Amino acid sequence: MKFKVEDGPLEKQANDCLVVGIYENNHLTSAAKKLDDMSLGFITKIVKKGEIQGKYGQTLLLHHVPNVSNERVLLVGCGKKEAERNARDFRKIIFSSIKALHVAKVSTPLLALTELNVSKYDTAWKVKHIVETSFDALYQFTEYKSSKDSQHEIAQITLHLSQKKDMSSAKEAIHIALAIVKGVTLTKDLANTPSNICNPTYLAKKAKLLAKKYKSIKTTVLEERDMERLGMGAFLAVSKGSAEDAKLICLEYKGTSKKKAPIVLVGKGITFDTGGLSLKPADGMIGMKYDMCGAATVLGTLKTIAELKLPIHVVGILATAENMPSGTATRPEDIVTSMSGQTIEIMNTDAEGRLVLCDALTYAERYKPDVVIDIATLTGAVVIALGHHATGLVSNHQALADELVEAGIESHDRVWQMPLWEEYQEQLKSPFADMSNVGGRAAGVITAGCFLSRFAKKFHWAHLDVAGTAAMMFGNDRAATGRPVPLLTQFLLNRAEK
Ligand code: BES
Ligand code: MN
Ligand code: ZN
Repeated sequence: MKFKVEDGPLEKQANDCLVVGIYENNHLTSAAKKLDDMSLGFITKIVKKGEIQGKYGQTLLLHHVPNVSNERVLLVGCGKKEAERNARDFRKIIFSSIKALHVAKVSTPLLALTELNVSKYDTAWKVKHIVETSFDALYQFTEYKSSKDSQHEIAQITLHLSQKKDMSSAKEAIHIALAIVKGVTLTKDLANTPSNICNPTYLAKKAKLLAKKYKSIKTTVLEERDMERLGMGAFLAVSKGSAEDAKLICLEYKGTSKKKAPIVLVGKGITFDTGGLSLKPADGMIGMKYDMCGAATVLGTLKTIAELKLPIHVVGILATAENMPSGTATRPEDIVTSMSGQTIEIMNTDAEGRLVLCDALTYAERYKPDVVIDIATLTGAVVIALGHHATGLVSNHQALADELVEAGIESHDRVWQMPLWEEYQEQLKSPFADMSNVGGRAAGVITAGCFLSRFAKKFHWAHLDVAGTAAMMFGNDRAATGRPVPLLTQFLLNRAEK
């Protein structure tokens, strides 16, 4: 699906469908007004009949509008004319327009929707979000369907701009958005791939493929024996019960020859989380193929920035393993020594994410990082606290947390910060080791963050708990979202500009 921008007169465009917005209470957008004038009041007549009320995301497909040469016109509801539309409203308008175009098998639509006011955002922002939302609306994972039903594809979407001056920034926005879409799609595909295929070895292969495609990326894979040599006792405790070997996958992206301390992204890559001997109940295991979304996000983000050739230095570390029960599995109350030297009493083998991440964080020290950000489907508690809309954020450096919050708003891939107060650290006490790997039911997101913070003392660090946002894990709507690739890309774009 291609995108282009056009600033010529609406009535001169040869697209097979024009998409124009209408507001509530029979108000028309200026594009709709134009078509209404051409068709001598046809649009007004339809709107006044009440066939479409202009509520967000309502659509109505019209054929052969009088005096309009385009075969079809799609009306889409844009809310109240005077309303302060926010990012979500705008994305809803785009999402349902694209869905309707797909169902109607339109091939070359023109969208006249950048004229809508969206809170404080400019045309480039709107263009970027139209592109991202369009691909979100059309994404399907059909790899394992024997018949791939919807063969229809929208060939090209033209975005109509009302002002010529926005042309070049709109083109740049398309360029950035298409790179984000590539990363998001990679992340979704990896995450949706079932665990019998997508295991640590598979992720390592994909990481190597990325290095093959982009000269700016180098991939190295540490095997279990390498991790043993490094003393990663916490990491290895997780994969002990599994027939699949754990792998620590390291990718280095260099978009500049300047010597710069890297931004390190660490992703949790549990390719399936049964809970281990602290076995999850059957229902609780559904969705656990998505427990590698952090790792998939790191790969997706690296793909995006390699596409954009951002002049920065980024390291990706994927901590991949499978968490299984067996005769060789780690037991509750086992004590292991992490690479940092700190000992951990494993009170619950289902709190495995922090065990692979803590050693990956210690390993990150060797890159002398500027900042380290880990991304993990770490706790069920974050879903209770924030639901599926915001990613949980914990950080030891407020300026970094602020940057992430800001990038989240801009990308509409939002995060919400939780406190990392000393008080919470006490919940991790163990009578026999330096710490326990669980801190009880209270403040589960924060105590998980507290645990990780003990391995992040040597750098500025932020932790993103994406258990609620990286995927919808239940029912027939199960699907990866590709989050937080848009957030991290925005963060890195902002960094590249500095
Ligand atoms: N992968 C899970 C977290 C999770 C739960 C992600 C639900 C997505 C949906 C993680 O490894 C886990 O099991 N966490 C435990 C931690 C507890 C034992 C301290 C949890 O949240 O119950
Ligand atoms: Mn678990
Ligand atoms: Zn897990």
